[in-house]
Amino acid sequence: MNGPPRRNRVPGFATRAIHHGFDRTGAQGALIPPIYMTSTYAFETSAESEAVAAGELLRPLYGREENPTQSVLETRLANLEGAEACVVFASGMGAVGSLMLSLLSQGDEVVVHRTVYSNTLALTEDALPRFGIKVVPVDMSDPANLDPVLSRRTRMVYFETPVNPTAEVLDIAAIAARARAVGALAVVDSTYASPALQRPLEHGAHLVLHALTKYINGHGDLLGGAVIGDLATIERLRRHGLRYITGATMSPMSAFLVLRGMKTLALRMERHGRTAQRIAEMLAGHEAVARVRYPHLPSDPGYAAARRQMANGSGMLSFSLVSGSDGADRFMDRLRLVLRAVSLGDAESLIMRPGALLRGALRADPAAHLAGGVDEPMMRLSVGLEDADDLLDDLSQALDAA
Ligand SMILES: Cc1ncc(COP(=O)(O)O)c(C=O)c1O
Repeated sequence: MNGPPRRNRVPGFATRAIHHGFDRTGAQGALIPPIYMTSTYAFETSAESEAVAAGELLRPLYGREENPTQSVLETRLANLEGAEACVVFASGMGAVGSLMLSLLSQGDEVVVHRTVYSNTLALTEDALPRFGIKVVPVDMSDPANLDPVLSRRTRMVYFETPVNPTAEVLDIAAIAARARAVGALAVVDSTYASPALQRPLEHGAHLVLHALTKYINGHGDLLGGAVIGDLATIERLRRHGLRYITGATMSPMSAFLVLRGMKTLALRMERHGRTAQRIAEMLAGHEAVARVRYPHLPSDPGYAAARRQMANGSGMLSFSLVSGSDGADRFMDRLRLVLRAVSLGDAESLIMRPGALLRGALRADPAAHLAGGVDEPMMRLSVGLEDADDLLDDLSQALDAA
């Protein structure tokens, strides 16, 4: 921000999403943060470069570690989550993988909710055990299920809320309190909500993770990830963690685009939530629909927790039809406006069916399977920013075919 806010008022979320963390005086007054497309940085003397390498002089040394466009994004994201620091990655999985493989070591245990994004499932089921890290899946929809499995060996408790792809809501405060009691890190993948709707650190989590690819960028034109939390952990991830070692760093162009997308985050989330609520209500009242999960429907099992920890609903819901998987295929093929695509959080409404994608995945990997709690007929809908009436029309005409 330029100068202190008047009357000591803390600027609101939307204001900070537009202004925070960019000092125009160092950028010739440019309205928009410049894109520093550079791989490396030059020094006047070798002593200067040595001081930077030793951490005595704060300047970037090499693009895999730091970039000024990335830094604006990191400062802004940390602020929006109410955290000390943030480090961004080349993708959401870059963030998840770097986090786990940097903070966990051989012999550690990580407790993971039984339903997580499919690639995170692959990471926890296939990769972590190969490095001697024990993964314990637990149904955290009742946080008391953690009590028998948490111990001093537990290094991390990891979950998403709302959960991809079910849209169930997990109680951040209750889970984080249990993790803290045994000295474990509580880590929340908050991709489905974005900081406009949910700030897990305010409910006791240690770290929050985002696929920036989704709502935070919001325009479906890049991949990015972030881990946000205390300065010591974030610096460990940045300096010694997997991002540094594997090079899973974010391009300065992507950082610029995320900053651009974030300016409308609050506005977009309001609209995603308002339209999704109408769609969830329509689906819940439709005879062709067997089940809908949208946390902000009063009938949803996650409603009470969602009201406590989320400002509003996002655009993510899951549902299945009375006519099962075949009906879902017919329904999806009839859609004209809603696009059949993976990913979420974009302006375009997107629908996918994890069970159908699994059929294809099985050809490449016979061990592939759906996460716990995900069944064959279930569809996941990411409600976009189109006119609500157009989306309702499209979904209704396709339901007639199902
Ligand atoms: C909840 C969640 N976390 C992490 C990821 C991974 O993000 P990316 O696709 O940017 O690697 C995704 C991707 O869909 C996701 O939905």
